[in-house]
Amino acid sequence: MGSGRTRRGMAEIGHARPAEVPAGSPFPRDAAGRDWLTVTSPLLPELADLVPLLSDVLERRWVTNHGHYARALEEALVHYLAVRGLALSTSGTVGLDLAVRALIPDGEVVTTGYSFPATWHGLLENPRWRPVFVDVDEGFGIDPEAVEAAITPRTRGILAVHAYGLPCRLARLEGIARRHDLRLVYDAAHAFGVTVGERGIGSFGDASVFSFHATKVFNTLEGGCVTTGSAATLDRLRLLRNFGFRNENEVAAFGSNGKMDEVRAVFGLLNLERVDAAIETRGALARRYRERLEELGIEEIEIGIDPARHPGVRLNHAYFPVSVRPGGRVDRDGLAAWLRDRGIHARKYFFPTVTTAPLYEGLFVPGSLPRCERASRTTLCLPLHAAMTEADCERVVDAVAGAFGARGEAKAA
Ligand SMILES: Cc1ncc(COP(=O)(O)O)c(C=O)c1O
Repeated sequence: MGSGRTRRGMAEIGHARPAEVPAGSPFPRDAAGRDWLTVTSPLLPELADLVPLLSDVLERRWVTNHGHYARALEEALVHYLAVRGLALSTSGTVGLDLAVRALIPDGEVVTTGYSFPATWHGLLENPRWRPVFVDVDEGFGIDPEAVEAAITPRTRGILAVHAYGLPCRLARLEGIARRHDLRLVYDAAHAFGVTVGERGIGSFGDASVFSFHATKVFNTLEGGCVTTGSAATLDRLRLLRNFGFRNENEVAAFGSNGKMDEVRAVFGLLNLERVDAAIETRGALARRYRERLEELGIEEIEIGIDPARHPGVRLNHAYFPVSVRPGGRVDRDGLAAWLRDRGIHARKYFFPTVTTAPLYEGLFVPGSLPRCERASRTTLCLPLHAAMTEADCERVVDAVAGAFGARGEAKAA
């Protein structure tokens, strides 16, 4: 089918391409006419590879409800992620909801104050649970000492986050969960493809939740999954994502709808073939950033991830966070604005977080999460994705150098 026919078809039914969504980057070019460099860009299959699979989906007329491609993707991901069981979901957020419902029926859940709202909004919205926020360690992961100190007789679970794809202190958290008989769920939204020794990161804890959102290392446009080593938990996850139906005649749980459709599963299968190359490209760019920023030696900037501090871990280079020391020549917000003025989108991630958004006032004791607050106010993620080139990397480094007057360019106001 030619694209002309497709377009005519759209016009006939009154659905032309919306004018406000341009074909390429949604951002304008910068003053020098260069394309915007976005913080991320989705991994996408070739149209030629997509077309035969999508036409097969149409021919099968089975477009959702655990179809051929969704089952194939589940199988492929079990293998890729080196886990025993896996349930696809419509998003990471829905995956978190499924995992928590499957494992932590109610009570207090100890979690990190440094994450994305999806980590805790489900817990906050429903009075069955009460999230108890604790601080991060000297990196970005939840502090196991703080977790243990926060446990009360009402605590039922721990929800830890592998922020930026960096594994939490796995052994310490597992020890705490075992000692206190708590369920341990990991928000592994950022950690696709990370391995620790021979083990996939999704094989730790009672369950791990991955996001397959377009901004992630691996995507199905929107989507996610929950991994678990327990057959009983997998059964429960499958029930919960399908309205609680065990079969046509039996509703066995208060489930919702978390199923993945066939079109997104096709995107996932094709992206899975490209994801290792994408991780390799990201790794090369991250090394270049590190080398060039170290050469510049800007004293206000600290690089957030040092692979040398994670021996035996295959990192996925999902993000390149830098910390900008407050009180220096330029602060984090100043650097973000400076880069934006030069057509570079760097993201304040995670900002706002529990300690920095007025919405969460009263949920933690002021001053009790100092590392979390500092990280939220000082961290900036530089652009990093598989479609970037080394020249893009240089452009960012040059702009950072300019912000601090490290190469003669006027420094940011
Ligand atoms: C740490 C974390 N958890 C959960 C999510 C939610 O994932 P999704 O966008 O697939 O719902 C995100 C999304 O960016 C995230 O960063």
